[in-house]
Amino acid sequence: MRTIKVNLNKKYSSSYEIRIGKNIFDRIVLLIAKDHKAGHYVVITDDCVGDLYGKKFATALQDIGLNASLIDFSAGESSKNIKTVLNIAGKLMESGADRGTCLIALGGGVVGDVAGFVASVFMRSVPYVQIPTTLVAQVDSSIGGKTGVDFYFGKNLLGTFYQPCAVYVDLSFLETLPEKEFNNGLAEIIKYGIIDDEKMFRILEDNIAALKSKDAKLMLNIVENCCRIKKSVVEIDEKEQGLRRILNFGHTLGHALEAISKFTITHGEGVAMGMTAAALISQKMGYLKNRETERIESLISKAGLPVKIPQSLNAENIIAQLRKDKKKKGDIINFVLLKKIGMPFIMGNIEHKLIAAVIEEMKK
Ligand SMILES: NC(=O)c1ccc[n+]([C@@H]2O[C@H](COP(=O)([O-])OP(=O)(O)OC[C@H]3O[C@@H](n4cnc5c(N)ncnc54)[C@H](O)[C@@H]3O)[C@@H](O)[C@H]2O)c1
Repeated sequence: MRTIKVNLNKKYSSSYEIRIGKNIFDRIVLLIAKDHKAGHYVVITDDCVGDLYGKKFATALQDIGLNASLIDFSAGESSKNIKTVLNIAGKLMESGADRGTCLIALGGGVVGDVAGFVASVFMRSVPYVQIPTTLVAQVDSSIGGKTGVDFYFGKNLLGTFYQPCAVYVDLSFLETLPEKEFNNGLAEIIKYGIIDDEKMFRILEDNIAALKSKDAKLMLNIVENCCRIKKSVVEIDEKEQGLRRILNFGHTLGHALEAISKFTITHGEGVAMGMTAAALISQKMGYLKNRETERIESLISKAGLPVKIPQSLNAENIIAQLRKDKKKKGDIINFVLLKKIGMPFIMGNIEHKLIAAVIEEMKK
């Protein structure tokens, strides 16, 4: 098992470890018992992961003498709302949860974001552990303490920064992950290459087929590398005041596309289209060479992700949705652009005309 330490400013948040390995299910149970002692453990999961792993995990905790129970909710982004938070809080109250309870978020990004949010507000906060089961969650959402739920006006509009006390990444969960969901994770992996690590980007270009077939050694190295990139950014800028914004590369437009498609476009698909758009905007503004845009588009396509925006989505509606982005300042929508692969920067005053032109170009 490999270990990465996330070192945070102790005045605000405690540091924690990310443990990464394959077939470490039983060891995770023992590590939780040893390192995160609690009077009561509640595994929070969705109904899909609950059936696959959740019940087994809660039973494994009980089998070593721990007081453990399980709460699940319907799988999918449509559950990522305040109603689910209230339902979970109600079930926690009924189960006798108190401040000595430790929550265990077992699932993808939706479970992690919802359970983390509950942990941050339930009884003015209880500890929680992240056990990510999707590739998106393993390389991205389980690390860094961003929690939250969607709101009528857009994605992740209600949330907190609240760090987990540990993250356990078991790559064997990915064996049951549908290909579409796996591809969503590839979008985040490609993002890390684009914003931080040209060397990893090249490894991805040369080995995308092996990665798609989940080559064990390659997967371990790539997932570990992504976790290291994310943790380094979070360490410098835990509350997203500056540097952490580069992690939103492709996400500004991606979130808008997800929302206006009523989430028929997945997070990874939205990010893939958003990354393509950001590269094209960078190119049209004279920052990025055409060849770099081509490399980005080509890798995204080879990963099985879209580089075209569906015809049915209207550019004006997409821009109206962008205006609701919670990261905008006044009327300025911040975009992460590129000078080259591995060199991002943040730009605030992009003309809406240019964004609309790129959207139209991507619909062809
Ligand atoms: N907090 C952050 O920093 C952050 C970062 C990136 C994304 N996110 C959020 O994460 C969410 C997307 O996460 P996601 O892509 O993991 O989606 P998800 O949590 O909805 O999971 C996708 C689907 O895969 C199923 N699943 C999960 N693990 C499985 C497994 N091992 N085998 C089979 N099926 C499995 C789930 O039940 C679900 O149906 C979005 O809401 C996004 O906003 C948050």
